[in-house]
Amino acid sequence: MKVNEWTQLWLDHHRMYEGSGVWALELAGFDKDRAVIKSAIREFKRGMEALTGEKTLETASGSDTHKLIISQNSALSKESYHFEGSADGITLEALDENGVLYGVFAILRQIACGKKADQVSEKAAPSNPLRMMNHWDNMDGSIERGYSGESFFFENEEIIIDDRTRDYARFMASVGINGVVINNVNVKGAASYLITDRYFDKVKELSDIFGEYGIRLYLSLNFASPIEIGDLDTCDPLDKKVITWWEEKVKEVYDRLHSFGGFLVKADSEGRPGPFTYGRTQADGANMLGDVIKPYGGIIIWRCFVYNCTQDWRDTRTDRARAGYDYFMEQDGTYHDNVILQIKNGPMDFQIREPVSPLLGGLKQTNQMLEVQIAQEYTGHQIDLCYLIPMYKEVLDFHTHCGSEKDTVADVVSGRTMGNELAGMAAVINTGNDKNWTGNDLAAANLYGFGRLSFNTELTSEEIAREWIAQTFNLPEKETEILCSMLLRSREIYEKYTSPLGIGWMVTPNGHYGPSVDGYEYSRWGTYHRADHLGIGVDRTDKGTGYAQQYYEENARMYNDPLTCPEELLLFFHHIPYTWMLKTGKTLLQHIYDSHFEGEEEARGLATDWDKLQGVIPKESFDRVKERFLLQLDNAREWRDQVNSYFYRKSGIPDQKGRTIY
Ligand code: GCU
Repeated sequence: MKVNEWTQLWLDHHRMYEGSGVWALELAGFDKDRAVIKSAIREFKRGMEALTGEKTLETASGSDTHKLIISQNSALSKESYHFEGSADGITLEALDENGVLYGVFAILRQIACGKKADQVSEKAAPSNPLRMMNHWDNMDGSIERGYSGESFFFENEEIIIDDRTRDYARFMASVGINGVVINNVNVKGAASYLITDRYFDKVKELSDIFGEYGIRLYLSLNFASPIEIGDLDTCDPLDKKVITWWEEKVKEVYDRLHSFGGFLVKADSEGRPGPFTYGRTQADGANMLGDVIKPYGGIIIWRCFVYNCTQDWRDTRTDRARAGYDYFMEQDGTYHDNVILQIKNGPMDFQIREPVSPLLGGLKQTNQMLEVQIAQEYTGHQIDLCYLIPMYKEVLDFHTHCGSEKDTVADVVSGRTMGNELAGMAAVINTGNDKNWTGNDLAAANLYGFGRLSFNTELTSEEIAREWIAQTFNLPEKETEILCSMLLRSREIYEKYTSPLGIGWMVTPNGHYGPSVDGYEYSRWGTYHRADHLGIGVDRTDKGTGYAQQYYEENARMYNDPLTCPEELLLFFHHIPYTWMLKTGKTLLQHIYDSHFEGEEEARGLATDWDKLQGVIPKESFDRVKERFLLQLDNAREWRDQVNSYFYRKSGIPDQKGRTIY
C-alpha cells in the first residue's frame, strides 16, 4: 500500500488561523535526542505548521519568535502535563517523556478545537495508569470481529511494518494510549510463534516504533505454548518442567524485546487451553506466569471471560452471567501483584445494554481493569452508527457500593479505590487496513473517544464528540451541532430497534449482524431470552439463577425487584409478562412495539441528518458514510419487523396503534 493511502483521522490538522510568527524550542531537563521527545517535537512542528502556518526553526530570535519551553517538573505525576500559552509562546511542563508527548498533542488539540496558541492551557493527569488497545488481529491478516478491512500488522503470517505503523502509533499516542496488544486473544497457529525467533526481529521493530510514541507492546499468549511450541506434554501451571520452560522462554523474550510490556491471556474460554484442564485455578495459571515475568518488570493481564460454552438451553440453573464471578471471586487476594484481571464491562458479552459486571469492585484485593469493545461486534459492525462513549460513561459512573467512598467503576479500575498501581482500561479495537481505518468514518469517534476517556474519565460524551468532530472535520457551528446530536442519539436508537430492555442477543448466530430472535435460543452458548406466549426475560433473582445476588447489597436489592430494577435492564434480571405495566404506563409488549417503530424511524432521522452535511464533509467520507446509512436503514427495518412479528405471534396481542406487523 502506498504512503497516504490512509486518512489522518483526527490528526488531519486543518488550517485554523494564519499565524504570523515562528517557533523556537527550548528544553530543560529533557534530552532532545530521546525517541519520545523527538516524536513530540516532530509532532509539534508538523501540527503547528499545518494548523497555523507557523514554522518551528532550529534557531530563531526575531521579534516574531514564540517559544515552546518544555521543562521537567518533578512535582507533576507520571505521564501528566501542564501547559500555558501567552504572548511569548507556550510553556509545557511534565515529569516524564510521555507527559511531554501528551502535552504536545493536547496543545495541538486545543488549537484544532478553536483556541489560539496564546490561549491554550491545561493541567492534566491520566485517570488510568494502563490505557490499552487490544487487537484481535490474526496472522493470516484477518481480524476477528473486524469490520474495517484486514490487519495492518499481519499478512500471510508475516509482520507488516510500513509508514502506516507509525501513523497508527501517532494516533494512539495522541489520545493517550500507552499499551497495545497486537494479536488476537485466541492465539493459534503462527501466532503461537510470536514469542520465538521466527518473529522476534519484526516484533522488536514494531515495539521500537511504538516506543517512540510512549507505547509498550504486549502479546496475547497461548497458554498451551509449552506443548504447542515446546516439546512438553503438559502445560500444567504447577508442573516444574512447565515453569522452567516458561522461565527460559520469558528470558528469551526479554533478551530480544527489552521494553516488552507483558502478556494478555485468554484461558479456559471458548476452547482455549487453560489451568482448568489440570484441575488448577485461574489464579494458579496467572500467578505462575506473573512470577516468571516479574524479574523483567512485565505484567500478566488475565481475562475473566471464562464460562461454560457448552450449555443446554433446558438447564435453567446454569447462568453464563454468573460465570466470571463464580470463577474469579474465590481467589480474590491471591493474585500476585504483577497480575491484573481484565473484566468485560458486562457479565455476558458486549451487548448493547448489560448491567455492569459484579466482578468490578466485587474483587477488593485484586488488580483489575475494564475491557470494552470498540469493534462493533454486537452494535452494528461499523455499518450502523453507534457512538459508544455514553455506554462506557454509564459503566464508569456505576456505583459498585463496594464499601469505599470511591466506589464507582472509574474509581475501581483506576486504582483509586484500592490504592493499587496496576489498573486501567482496555478496548477491543475497531481498526483495520481500510483507507479510513474504521470502516465507517464515524466509528473513528469511538476509537478517539475510548482513548480520551481512558486518559480522562471525567470528560463527557459530548465533549469528546465535539473534540473529535472539530479535529476530524472542522465543521461550521450548525453542522457541528447536527453531527454531535447524531452521535449522541445513536446508541439509544440502535438499542431501540434491536433487542429490548437489556435482554440482548437475538442476533444472527456467528456473524452477529442483523436479527434472528431465536438464533441463539436453543444453542450451547448460554445466551437465552426465554420468551414464551406469556412473557420474556431471564429470572436472575434470588428465586432464579441468583445472579443479582452477586452484587453488593444495595445493588442486589435494586436488581432483585422488578419494581426497582432499572427498566432498561428489566429483562436481563426478570421474566416479565407481556402485559406488565412499565413506568411509562405502557405494557411491556406495547413498549417493544413502540420502541421498534421509533428506533427505525429515528434511524431514518440519522440518515436524513447526514444528508444535511453533504458539501461540508469531504465527498469521499460523505459517500462512504451515506452508503452505510442505507444499509443501516435496511437493518433497522429488518430488526423492527422481525422482533415485532415474533412477539405478536408469540403473544397474540396486537399493537394498540394498529401499525403494520408482518
Ligand atoms: C466474543 C466474540 C469472540 C471473542 C470472544 C472473546 O465471544 O464473539 O470472537 O473471541 O468474545 O472476547 O474472547
